[in-house]
Amino acid sequence: MNILKDSFGRTFPYIRLSISDVCNFKCGYCLPNGYQIEKSDKRKFLHLDEIKRLAKCFYELGVNKIRITGGEPTIRKDFFDIIKVLKFEAGIQNVTITTNGYKLDKKAEQFVSSGLTGINISIDSLNKETFKNITGHDRLPEILHGIENLQNLGFENIKINAVLLNGVNSSINDFNTWAKYIKKNKVDFRYIELMRTGDNLDYFKKYHVSSNTFKEYLNENNWIYQTFGKDAGPALNYINPNFKGKFGIIAPYSKDFCKSCNRLRITSRGDLRLCLFGNTGINLRHLLQEDDQLNELKDLILKQMKFKKESHHLELGDTGSTKNLSKTGG
Ligand code: 5AD
Ligand code: SF4
Repeated sequence: MNILKDSFGRTFPYIRLSISDVCNFKCGYCLPNGYQIEKSDKRKFLHLDEIKRLAKCFYELGVNKIRITGGEPTIRKDFFDIIKVLKFEAGIQNVTITTNGYKLDKKAEQFVSSGLTGINISIDSLNKETFKNITGHDRLPEILHGIENLQNLGFENIKINAVLLNGVNSSINDFNTWAKYIKKNKVDFRYIELMRTGDNLDYFKKYHVSSNTFKEYLNENNWIYQTFGKDAGPALNYINPNFKGKFGIIAPYSKDFCKSCNRLRITSRGDLRLCLFGNTGINLRHLLQEDDQLNELKDLILKQMKFKKESHHLELGDTGSTKNLSKTGG
């Protein structure tokens, strides 16, 4: 049963938990100069015991899915311990991660054996050079190998996200390249419209483009819009019987995007964030120190739900307190 509900009737079976802000990539829209230690915030990232208590609490509040994000979550040394704790000690059924795919070829086997139930990999382009230009790393081949390894091990739930960038990865040719890829691979590919954050205004002005041309492409090529139940989340999904994979669009600037929001976020230092772009958020850490604080923690989270707003105000240029997405994991 799901107990987490806001004042607009939305329920929250799903938590996104960042376990680190550190990232080893330099994506132009996120950390163009690489990760810099923030001197003003000396707090350490949540440790394993704190994560365990948090997950147990959310489990009791009806949460059955936790997505681990970063920064880049896999570079944390206790990454696999975290997965195991969530799955096997807190009882969360569905544990997924969002990763940049770093060393995926080598880690694929451990991913599968740890009990992970899904992986989202960020690949902005299937062109090696373009990939390198966006992320600052020439690592596309190892990521694609990693996906093959996962598939050979029978791992099913693989999604690829690309941030749609004007003049970089948004041509019909790019769409066709992805179509060719998902024709043979059972992978869901989604374009995310570039979001403006506190740090990326110039980049945003230069590269933001609406996903309408991709939508038109899908319509012209017999992709069928798939409607889901109320727990589906904000992605628009398209299917085509001739393809093993699916296409999708995440368009945060579209009208009604927030209506289907089904996520809450916890930052790597234990702040509860009600919206990626909201200013609201309180720290939960003081209630993660002892096992017997569980009920107090539950009460605090339930009280906070009343403050979740109906919608973000991105369209008004209000990015809330989000400087870049490495802080909140997207
Ligand atoms: N706009 C849209 N997507 C972004 N991501 C990171 N920053 C942005 C942004 N400003 C994406 C990453 C990854 C996911 C976690 O969020 O590429 O796919
Ligand atoms: Fe790292 Fe993800 Fe930000 Fe790229 S988008 S720099 S992979 S945190």
